Amino acid sequence: MTALLNAMDLNGWASMPGFVDAAASRCLRQECVDACEQGEFKPAGVGQGINLRVREDIRSDQMMWLQPGDTSVEQGIYLAKLELLRLALNERFFLGLFEFEGHFAIYPEGAFYKAHLDRHAGTSDRIVTTILYLNPDWQPGDGGELKLWTTAGDKAGDFVLIEPRMDTLVCFLAGEFWHEVLPAKKTRMSITGWFRQR
Ligand code: OGA
Ligand code: MN
Repeated sequence: MTALLNAMDLNGWASMPGFVDAAASRCLRQECVDACEQGEFKPAGVGQGINLRVREDIRSDQMMWLQPGDTSVEQGIYLAKLELLRLALNERFFLGLFEFEGHFAIYPEGAFYKAHLDRHAGTSDRIVTTILYLNPDWQPGDGGELKLWTTAGDKAGDFVLIEPRMDTLVCFLAGEFWHEVLPAKKTRMSITGWFRQR
């Protein structure tokens, strides 16, 4: 956790392999697979409220929100880790993060999410993005990398490509770092979420 906080301090983003243990992340992946087979995912949208639209030219993933109060044991394990992270971020950076919202995401083969910031027009409640990847055996060439531009506020210049490997947590300042998901060449799963301010 200290390494992650130091990276957030230095760069505003961080990537940490092994954030949850292998058994828990395998179960989370299985939950994701099962829920998808039961038809519980829906096409992800762009925008919020009455402006929410499915725009497959911008993003083509499918999603299912986590339901607070109806979480599996493994979701509970992950959410407990995130709670420790939330408290640590508040203690170190005085961010006043008060809650987490998150969803499972599936990118079928060919799916992508064009460059964006994680903030809806006219809002500022999403402060820190967290993404846990759930893809065992991810290989170079499988696509689906997270492309994250490393200068706050800039959608140009230096970037990193992060492979969506099992157990890896990525976090960054939601309203400052432009990012995109490159087309996945095989099904790509994750839990994406945000720490929010009031
Ligand atoms: C998002 C997003 C990135 C990823 O859902 O807003 O940018 O790597 N996801 O899944
Ligand atoms: Mn995003």
